[in-house]
Amino acid sequence: MGKGHYNKIAGTYDQRWKNYTRRTLHKLMEYLPASLEGKRVLDFGCGTGELIKILLRHKPKLKEVTAYDPAEEMLRQARNKLEKLPERQQEKVVLLNKQEYGTNFDLVVSSSVLHYLPEPAETLLHFNSLLKGGGTLVLLDYTKNSLPVKYFRWLVRWVDPAHHQAFYP
Ligand SMILES: C[S@@+](CC[C@H](N)C(=O)[O-])C[C@H]1O[C@@H](n2cnc3c(N)ncnc32)[C@H](O)[C@@H]1O
Repeated sequence: MGKGHYNKIAGTYDQRWKNYTRRTLHKLMEYLPASLEGKRVLDFGCGTGELIKILLRHKPKLKEVTAYDPAEEMLRQARNKLEKLPERQQEKVVLLNKQEYGTNFDLVVSSSVLHYLPEPAETLLHFNSLLKGGGTLVLLDYTKNSLPVKYFRWLVRWVDPAHHQAFYP
């Protein structure tokens, strides 16, 4: 469901969700380890690659970003965007449409994805299996207590038919 919806809206996603994306991803950056020097990062549900760009800009010493998204069209947007970056940054990024990202990540991030998952507990275990010992998991999502989800669930579903469930903080 999520994948089909995102394949359809990929071309207009950045424009439509510009403010939301900017606010959420900058908030997410506050929760990352101060240094990512030499570290391997997985961005799960990377969408159009905005977080990849921010990571490369603010954490230039990171080793690599592997970015996975099931929606091919969202990845196409990410690829187009990344092609405009300097080569030394592009070389650090691997974009994947399949869950063939291996393991041993220092950091797994997933932003605004959890609410699409019918089996979030399984995904959390999956994230755990991808991390090195002592690695970091950073999840960002809107919660069940957020105003639109609490009072206007029908509206959330209308704007985003792929929405499955939000969680308590
Ligand atoms: C709201 S967008 C967020 C994109 C990006 N993480 C960001 O914060 O800008 C949600 C993304 O989750 C992806 N997605 C949907 N279902 C997914 C799943 N089961 N596993 C991983 N990603 C999924 C969609 O294709 C879409 O690109």
